[in-house]
Amino acid sequence: MNYELIVTRTEGPDARKAAIVTLNRPKQLNALNDALMDELGHALKAFDADEAVGCIILTGSEKAFAAGADIGAMANYGFADVYNRDYITRNWEQIRGVRTPVIAAVSGFALGGGCELAMMCDFIIAADNAKFGQPEIKLGIIPGAGGTQRLPRAVGKAKAMEMALTGRMMDAVEAERAGLVSRVVPLDKLMDEALGAALTICSHGQPSVMAAKEAVNRAFEGTLSDGVMFERRLFQALFATEDQKEGMDAFVNKRKPAFRNR
Ligand code: HXC
Repeated sequence: MNYELIVTRTEGPDARKAAIVTLNRPKQLNALNDALMDELGHALKAFDADEAVGCIILTGSEKAFAAGADIGAMANYGFADVYNRDYITRNWEQIRGVRTPVIAAVSGFALGGGCELAMMCDFIIAADNAKFGQPEIKLGIIPGAGGTQRLPRAVGKAKAMEMALTGRMMDAVEAERAGLVSRVVPLDKLMDEALGAALTICSHGQPSVMAAKEAVNRAFEGTLSDGVMFERRLFQALFATEDQKEGMDAFVNKRKPAFRNR
């Protein structure tokens, strides 16, 4: 597929590299229309299927990660348009099926669907100019890509409710303090930092990386005891992998591990 609204590239060693997907509608502040989300879903699925890709970075421009779903495109939709075509679910939810870790590298605006897209990723590294918000209320709607569910889980009810009801934005410092982002870094270091994290993930064994992602995600679904049991079984299962033998042997013998993702 030839992409027009995203740009993709890879970085790092051929055997285990990071894929970088850049949203590319800069004039519209990366407003997320259906065509862009179709391309994004396609690219994520393709990278997820590529065994040489160990981590994916999703990023935007300096001014905007994404300023939301495309308001112009949505303005004339009626109920049948969105319900019959399963608007949002059809393509946006692709990202949740990706088993490879996805890092959101956010600079500038991450608003509405842009904030929700960032929250669908596994963690967010923010530039110091990042601004997060769920301003849908100002348009007569509410968040529709998980914002009312993921934002309270990330920052607690008080801040999430205030943001959803007032539409106010949160800056990067507040977002880090509240737990929405893992780290804030200077704007000019954003991609270096995201790539550093991605290549570190790539250097680890794939089964343990995927198990860690699955287990942490379980923390947001179901009960604590179910989540702990899920973690325990994955933990125990990893003792059946070659990578566990390799990782522990390497530590004991004071050498670097050479994981084979087996
Ligand atoms: C379509 C958008 C857009 C959007 C910006 N643009 N956001 N177009 N959809 N979400 C366009 C503007 O129309 C403008 O186009 C160009 O991008 C530059 O934007 P400006 O407004 O001129 O820039 P600035 O003054 O710097 O203001 C930046 C901004 C503002 C604060 C981010 O653009 C803004 O408030 N945007 C809307 C944010 C929003 O409401 N997001 C939620 C959308 S609803 P022209 O052609 O005039 O140059 C949503 C629903 C999610 O996301 C539900 C499920 C996904």
